Amino acid sequence: MPLVNMSTLLSKAREGGYAVGSFSISNMEMVLGVLKAVEETKSPAILQIAEVRLNHSPLEIIGPLMVAAAKNASVPVAVHFDHGKTTEKIKQALDIGFTSVMFDGSHLPFEENVRQTAEVKKLAAEYGADCEGEIGCVGGSEDGSEDIAINCTSPAQALEFYEKTNVDALAVAIGNAHGNYKQTPKLRFDILEQTASLVKAPLVLHGGTGILPDDFRKCISLGINKINIATATFDSVEQSVRAAYENAEIKGYYDLQTAEVEGAYKNAMKHIDVFGCSDKA
Ligand code: 13P
Repeated sequence: MPLVNMSTLLSKAREGGYAVGSFSISNMEMVLGVLKAVEETKSPAILQIAEVRLNHSPLEIIGPLMVAAAKNASVPVAVHFDHGKTTEKIKQALDIGFTSVMFDGSHLPFEENVRQTAEVKKLAAEYGADCEGEIGCVGGSEDGSEDIAINCTSPAQALEFYEKTNVDALAVAIGNAHGNYKQTPKLRFDILEQTASLVKAPLVLHGGTGILPDDFRKCISLGINKINIATATFDSVEQSVRAAYENAEIKGYYDLQTAEVEGAYKNAMKHIDVFGCSDKA
């Protein structure tokens, strides 16, 4: 199964009324764990890494690994650059073969977000790749380094943004936030419903960690077709390793590696079940 474009996966998800999991990874073990889950369940998937994570996982090393993993998968996998901030890194991801890039201009004034997102959309199109934008502001930050306040999407502004940028996927802010929620989030389903009725692009839910299964299902029924999961993967890998040490299952390095793969696998399996994407490969 080839490496695919994100829009191919998302348009099928729109027709089928399900969401594709977009799993953040930071090493080979996480890639292997996610792939094991999606291959076993015959699910499409997106592998992603955010620009803020590159200090730990340099793009020139992790990027080719992600692309190679997608090319060798038995299910369709897109490779996505999450929360792109700089043209330099976005271009580097496209040169490596990522099939999708996000430009996150959610912190910028509206017109500037439109202008810079449209430029990235044009650049991505030159590579035959897709572009995701964000309108409104998802809370927190991808790596927890900033406590950005939630600014819910205005449906009318989302439409204007979509018409001006023609993005292939649009991330909305409906009370969702990156990282572990301090309280169970109260999502604004009304905003999601209005936005989905206006914007024809597949909608993206960031901050997937900690959202309740029923809320995920409701978001999917209202127009979310891509769900980003990062913290839950990292937490699951850490817990898996910790438990393996506590249970004296780690006798050497390769047992540690196995525990990491298992943590990423378990987390992906849990989400695939809720997203309804099994057997949709
Ligand atoms: P979480 O870390 O809350 O799962 O958010 C992931 C995300 O939205 C990455 O873009």
